[in-house]
Amino acid sequence: MSIKTATLNGVATIEIARPEKKNAITVAMYQAMADGINAAAADPAVRAVLITGQPGIFTSGNDIDDFMNRPPGQGSHMMESPVARFLHALFEFDKPAVAAVTGAAIGIGTTMLLHCDLVYVADDARLAMPFVSLGLVPEFASSLLVPQLMGHRRAAEKLLLGDPFSAEQAVECGIANAVLPAGEVVNHARRMAERFNALPPGAVREAKRLMRAPQRELIANTIRTEGELFATRLRSPEAMEAFQAFFQKRQPDFSKFQ
Ligand code: COA
Repeated sequence: MSIKTATLNGVATIEIARPEKKNAITVAMYQAMADGINAAAADPAVRAVLITGQPGIFTSGNDIDDFMNRPPGQGSHMMESPVARFLHALFEFDKPAVAAVTGAAIGIGTTMLLHCDLVYVADDARLAMPFVSLGLVPEFASSLLVPQLMGHRRAAEKLLLGDPFSAEQAVECGIANAVLPAGEVVNHARRMAERFNALPPGAVREAKRLMRAPQRELIANTIRTEGELFATRLRSPEAMEAFQAFFQKRQPDFSKFQ
């Protein structure tokens, strides 16, 4: 199984484990991640969730073969897809979500961090949101949250040009809390998650809810609007050219598009 889940000391860990494909997330993996988050939400013994990847790779994002051959449905069907179930589960999760990022965190690998409460990045972390380069649009409210975090100009480098950025830059622009040596980041994140064992869970939940309340509806609407556009764009000739270029290990050619 490419998603490993385990609960220890009040922390439910969701580990992305498909290193042979750089932890690319398939439909089945989104399903397992959504199930893991929902199970953690329902389990009173769980005080926090920890999301991790593998040494050197957090995730290379959505599996591009799935993008080409098993895209989520369009319109209202988009919201029933496993990826939408995962986004919804993380968005609705009312306990703290902590992430430990080692290596590349591409696409959903970065956008899921926008919905975690504490994010620790290894010094080898490299984040990127290359949706436009793939003929797609930003997802998971990143078109709203990234400009809010860092301003339109710096967001444009990341969301329009798709420029990757370092662990230090992730901290500087407010996506992550701290940079740690690659060999220490998971243990550090786990220790931070375990701190919630000593705190009153009801107060933690209410505080998280209050922190998110002012934007809750706006974020939910943005996720829906982006999702519908994303599903349409997955079927666009621009996206097909980008996906084929990836598997053919060549640069995409967008010169014929208007
Ligand atoms: N979907 C499907 N397969 C993927 C993948 C993805 N997102 N990312 C990597 N893989 C596969 C490669 O096709 C390759 O498979 P193969 O061994 O059968 O040829 C294998 O994983 C190793 O990837 P490779 O590209 O050779 O590794 P690398 O170390 O040179 O580069 C990355 C690593 C992550 C930089 C690079 O794989 C990459 O850019 N991936 C795509 C990222 C992306 O655009 N994601 C979508 C975001 S919306």
